Amino acid sequence: MRVLFATSEAAPLIKTGGLADVSGALPPALRRIGADVRVLLPAYPQVLRALANLRLETVFPARFGYPSSRLFEAKTKSGETLWLLDCPELYQRNGGPYLDEHGCDWADNPRRFGLLSKVAAVLSSAESPLDWRPDIVHCHDWQTGLTPAYLRYLRDPAPCVMTIHNLAFQGNFHANWVHDLGLPWECFKPEGAEFYGHLSFLKAGLYYADRITTVSPSYAREIQGEALGFGMQGLLSHRRNVLSGILNGIDLEEWNPEKDPNLVQGYTGKTLQRKQANKQALRQRTGLQVDENAPLFGMVSRFTYQKGTDLVLETAHRLMETPAQLVMLGSGDAALQQQARELAQRYPGRVSVTVGFDEGLSHQIEAGADIFLMPSRFEPCGLNQMYSQRYGTPPIVHATGGLIDSVDDFDGSNAETATGFVFGDMHADGLWAAMYRAMQVYDDKPQWRKLQENGMRRDFGWENSARAYLAVYKQTLADRSVH
Ligand code: ADP
Ligand code: GLC
Repeated sequence: MRVLFATSEAAPLIKTGGLADVSGALPPALRRIGADVRVLLPAYPQVLRALANLRLETVFPARFGYPSSRLFEAKTKSGETLWLLDCPELYQRNGGPYLDEHGCDWADNPRRFGLLSKVAAVLSSAESPLDWRPDIVHCHDWQTGLTPAYLRYLRDPAPCVMTIHNLAFQGNFHANWVHDLGLPWECFKPEGAEFYGHLSFLKAGLYYADRITTVSPSYAREIQGEALGFGMQGLLSHRRNVLSGILNGIDLEEWNPEKDPNLVQGYTGKTLQRKQANKQALRQRTGLQVDENAPLFGMVSRFTYQKGTDLVLETAHRLMETPAQLVMLGSGDAALQQQARELAQRYPGRVSVTVGFDEGLSHQIEAGADIFLMPSRFEPCGLNQMYSQRYGTPPIVHATGGLIDSVDDFDGSNAETATGFVFGDMHADGLWAAMYRAMQVYDDKPQWRKLQENGMRRDFGWENSARAYLAVYKQTLADRSVH
């Protein structure tokens, strides 16, 4: 099975969130079960700096308002084949993949990701200049949403699987872009790429892809309803026969508490006492005071409405009436960043807030905290709650999406299987009740240890999910051969 995996970010080269973790770990997992995968990624400066030995594969001439671009092949350290789309005019800039240095969307994002989509489509058709052609093209989120639309107008197109990592990001742009990106106007209708008068990259993907997946079974159900469908619930429920949810895995090498180079001491379920040294080190690094008995709550996340950062900030005042401490790492919404900083100023030594993106610190929080907070309003899958279980840090999660599918709530009677705390009421009171519950169990050391061990034993590896994707690819090919 030859798979072209088209994505806008991939760890460890370029990462803003979970999509990068998936793009870094799923292709090798697919390769281990026999697939031949090429990962197509824009050649951002960070990516070019990290890779040596690039080999020029082909040059795409300027067309349809797209500047000319080049395709380079490179190998990652783990042996993955990358295809880097080099177009200096679009990708060689300071800033992030989607935002400039001031946190604003790049104004030409439609062109930047239109080109990525277009090249993915060309490489998956008879118009590809290369010998290697995929059996399947696997697209991710709006940034590659136009691929199946372009494919319709190319010769002998490969079938396309579209994965939704987050329906809230849709890539909706002014209708003029239809012309500017070389799409026929016939695409611009409700049965196509049009969404409330805009050109929607994601809608195009969901409409034209052969199959749709999302990153957990619960989220696959939720997005067919009004509450979490973000306006696309009608289309998604109409296409439910080709829509499925596959829970993400995690990279068990990257996130291994026994061998994690970011930790002062490695540990396993059998040597959990060593976790304590990591808690001390984390306190020291983040300026928290030493207090043997105080449970330490941790959070690593984008600071956004989705992640419930506001609820954590609200609840923190109550938490400060107990001996507990709080460490937060994240960035995003400017007002939330500011409120978080003010909270840390108000409770020095007890609340620590780091605004920014820090891979090392994120590992240290997973390891050094006692209890992990992830009260997302919605969560397609979520990875941190899985990392935290693997690091012996039971998570508190809201009952939504992938969080339901990956955390077993402790109800007082299931200490043999429970791995964390799940709450249903998305208000400060609901979160606080779960935090209070967690602190009570934390004080009961044998029971707490069971929860930690249960989480650490769970298999969150990619293998099962990679097999599920392979099954989807095969089904997609089988559907094509019938039609
Ligand atoms: P999302 O993709 O919606 O942000 P996920 O839980 O799927 O949420 O993945 C987030 C990923 O980004 C995780 O690997 C998490 O550790 C990482 N992450 C988020 N914020 C930060 C940060 N400020 N510093 C370091 N890593 C972060
Ligand atoms: C998105 C989602 C997150 C998911 C990640 C990887 O960013 O918000 O829930 O884990 O994609 O699939």
